[in-house]
Amino acid sequence: MDEQEYITHPTTQLPPQLSTFAPEVDWVYDFIFWISVVFFVGIIAATLYFMWAYRRRPGVKSEPTGHHNALELFWTFAPLILLVLMFHWGFQAYMVQANAPDDAYNVRVRARQWAWEFEHPNGITEDNELHVPAGQPVRLIMSSSDVLHSFYVPDYRIKRDAVPGMFTSLWFEAIERTDVTPEGDLSRPDARRVWYRNQVFCTEYCGAGGSWGDNAGHATMYAQILVQRPEDFQEFITNPPPPMCGDHPCTPPEWGEQLFSQKGCTACHAREEGAPQLAGPNLHGLFGRQERLQDGSTVSVDEAYVRHSILEPRAQVVEGFNPVMPNIRFSEQQLDALVTYLQTL
Ligand code: CUA
Repeated sequence: MDEQEYITHPTTQLPPQLSTFAPEVDWVYDFIFWISVVFFVGIIAATLYFMWAYRRRPGVKSEPTGHHNALELFWTFAPLILLVLMFHWGFQAYMVQANAPDDAYNVRVRARQWAWEFEHPNGITEDNELHVPAGQPVRLIMSSSDVLHSFYVPDYRIKRDAVPGMFTSLWFEAIERTDVTPEGDLSRPDARRVWYRNQVFCTEYCGAGGSWGDNAGHATMYAQILVQRPEDFQEFITNPPPPMCGDHPCTPPEWGEQLFSQKGCTACHAREEGAPQLAGPNLHGLFGRQERLQDGSTVSVDEAYVRHSILEPRAQVVEGFNPVMPNIRFSEQQLDALVTYLQTL
């Protein structure tokens, strides 16, 4: 969210309009907002005026007034027309958002405590980052592997829940901007020109936890959408860059460490000796340790046990812990790198 100027709308302080339908959503918002302002001010002013004009005065008797048909009709039909307009424009904007164009680019989104995973049609996955082409519709097909989450991108004016056991979908088209130029250092092997970035928030409370304190889980469930020019996006998706650690391609343990935080493992597993207990076992000095499992057996932690525990996290749970670890998807190389890293702890 770094250098982005976040507030651009002059009166309503809304974020920048960076999807094709953001202006329409804001238009409906503005319409309802200003109608409400006019009515609020009008009703308060009329109330104050009548309180003063018809206050009790000595010698003046209050009398019921008659019926005023024109006035009755006016204040019945004027709000009715305004409400019908609000519904009409709101529904129109809703229908645009509800129906993705047929040629949309499909991305699978898996939400879990506490990370977002994105999978492109060619099988490439990303964690907490999603590259998309500007000027092309993108459809997100979302599910959750544990509890309710909600995918919210203020800059696009889109928000929808990710629900366990069902698919929900959402689409957007990131606009082509003339006010910013693609960034990216082309001398790096992972060069990927990003036109601009948009923050994704989880906006459904999905549990406390994590290494940053009691509420860190939900509160830190961020992702970023990296919008690219279509040609840069093609380059990224057909020829994904090697994982980078600083300015060099990662060594396996470095990559493993990067994956450890990218995949959200840090939320539940401490890695320092004597660190406060989180939802999962501390991984300091993991290898060679004797662990008592919930079925009463004892296991000596070796590579086979660690791999099995990552791939089938609920199969051999250590005594004293709840079987809550989600199934996280790793490629072969990612799993190798992760295990190499865990051996260094
Ligand atoms: Cu996921 Cu809140």
